[in-house]
Amino acid sequence: MASDKEKVSLNDEQQSAAHCTENAVITAGAGSGKTMVLASRYVWLVTVKKYCVREILTLTFTKKAAAQMYRRIHHMLAEIAGEDKGINGKPARKALDEFVQARIQTLDSYSAAIVRQAANRYGIRPDFTIDEERCLSLARDEAMPFLSPCGIIRQLSSFTRKKVRYP
Ligand SMILES: Nc1ncnc2c1ncn2[C@@H]1O[C@H](COP(=O)(O)OP(=O)(O)OP(=O)(O)O)[C@@H](O)[C@H]1O
Ligand SMILES: [Mg+2]
Repeated sequence: MASDKEKVSLNDEQQSAAHCTENAVITAGAGSGKTMVLASRYVWLVTVKKYCVREILTLTFTKKAAAQMYRRIHHMLAEIAGEDKGINGKPARKALDEFVQARIQTLDSYSAAIVRQAANRYGIRPDFTIDEERCLSLARDEAMPFLSPCGIIRQLSSFTRKKVRYP
């Protein structure tokens, strides 16, 4: 397994995912290189497609994943900026200069930023804080009935009923 600092060449499938030019949903198993592919895609967008870092939104589920993504992208850009005297070196250096504007964050922090910007529309204070404990217990309350064996059976049977009623 390569560390964040090691140079990795993408295989053919990873490369086609990283250089995809259409909207795409890509699924891959644990440890198969998802973060590596997304980080490479980011670098490809700024070096080859000439996007500015502020034009790219990179969202993850966890803070740990966001930090890892940030580190890997920064490292890849620094490597290209340092080594590549060709056409990719210049945009990589520009991206590094502007990296403070990079939006690589969790879904939660992105959503909170949107709400904060428009807080007055929702009648809440812009300096609101998120009650993590309450969020966890709400998520648990919603998820557990679904996950319990009876819950799953209930969900499946209601799905089947709907399918029968509305074929
Ligand atoms: N093409 C490749 N060649 C060599 N090493 C690779 C390749 N793709 C990924 N790796 C290595 O495999 C390891 C796992 O990659 P990565 O963290 O990107 O996977 P992931 O799918 O995001 O994992 P997780 O499911 O834990 O989030 C890393 O050390 C990465 O450097
Ligand atoms: Mg990952």
